Amino acid sequence: MTERRLLLVNGPNLNLLGTRQPEIYGSTTLADIEKSVTALAAEFGFEVRAVQSNHEGALVDAIQAARTDCAGIIINPAAYSHTSVAIADALTSVELPVAEVHLSNIHRREEFRHHSYVSAVAEMVICGAGAAGYEYAVRYLVGRV
Ligand code: DQA
Repeated sequence: MTERRLLLVNGPNLNLLGTRQPEIYGSTTLADIEKSVTALAAEFGFEVRAVQSNHEGALVDAIQAARTDCAGIIINPAAYSHTSVAIADALTSVELPVAEVHLSNIHRREEFRHHSYVSAVAEMVICGAGAAGYEYAVRYLVGRV
C-alpha cells in the first residue's frame, strides 16, 4: 500500500520565520506553515511529518528516513539549496517525488542564490509565492502520488 504521508522539511534559519526579514520572507511563522500544510494534506487523506533543522546532517537523516514511509517530500532547503550536494544526493537516493519551495524569488535576489543543487533533483520548484508555495507543493504531490 502506498504510504499516505508527506515529509515537510525546512532548513536552516526557517525556524525564525515571522521575525526573520519579514520584508523578504513574510510574517507567517513556521508553526503556521506546518499547520496549514498539515490541514491541507489531511483534506486529501495524507499525514504530514514536519522536520526543521539548522544542521545539514540532520536534514539528510530525515530525508533518508522518509524512504520507507513517505510518499513524497516538500523541502525548503534554505541556504543549503545553494551549497549542499549531500542533501541533493539524499533526495535522489530515496526515490520519492520532491517539491522544492522557496518563499522568496531566489532568481530576483543575489547571484549566489540563483543556483540550487536541489532543483536538479526536484520534480517541481516553486519560488516567490511566499507561504502559499507550500500549499501548491501539497496539491502537486497529492495529485502526483
Ligand atoms: C529561501 C531562500 C534562500 O536563499 C535562503 O537562504 C533561505 C530561504 C526562501 O525560502 O526564500 O533561507 O530558501
